[in-house]
Amino acid sequence: MVSEKELFEFAEKLMPNAYAPYSNFKVVAIAETRSGELFPGVNVENSSYGLTICAERVAVFNAVTNGHRDIDKIYIFTETKEPTSPCGACRQVIAEFNPEATIISYSLSTGKKRQWALKELLPYHFNLS
Ligand code: THU
Repeated sequence: MVSEKELFEFAEKLMPNAYAPYSNFKVVAIAETRSGELFPGVNVENSSYGLTICAERVAVFNAVTNGHRDIDKIYIFTETKEPTSPCGACRQVIAEFNPEATIISYSLSTGKKRQWALKELLPYHFNLS
């Protein structure tokens, strides 16, 4: 299992890659599979603001692109004082692959940590059944 120290080092390395010239709110997310593989993502903004994509969705799509749908945890890193929770759209996207996922969010600046079950953040996610 990856240590918190390794996660922080990975997130610190990736944070400059977040492309957030409009909001200046940089986010790194890392999807961890059940077998412990890590797939990162950063937020990528666009001058047509609505085209922006959150770091969490980039991380999930990175895992799926690499053949891994068994997402177990999503780590989130921001530079805010308090850890942030994922937006509603990202909650639904994570639930597509694992409604039982765990979300772990850290502040890179204060080291504070919060953890939720995805089910707490998005009870009754949409599905077609
Ligand atoms: N953002 C994320 O990457 N993840 C979230 O959970 C919430 C928001 C991004 C989108 C946008 O680039 C910036 O943060 C401000 O909303």
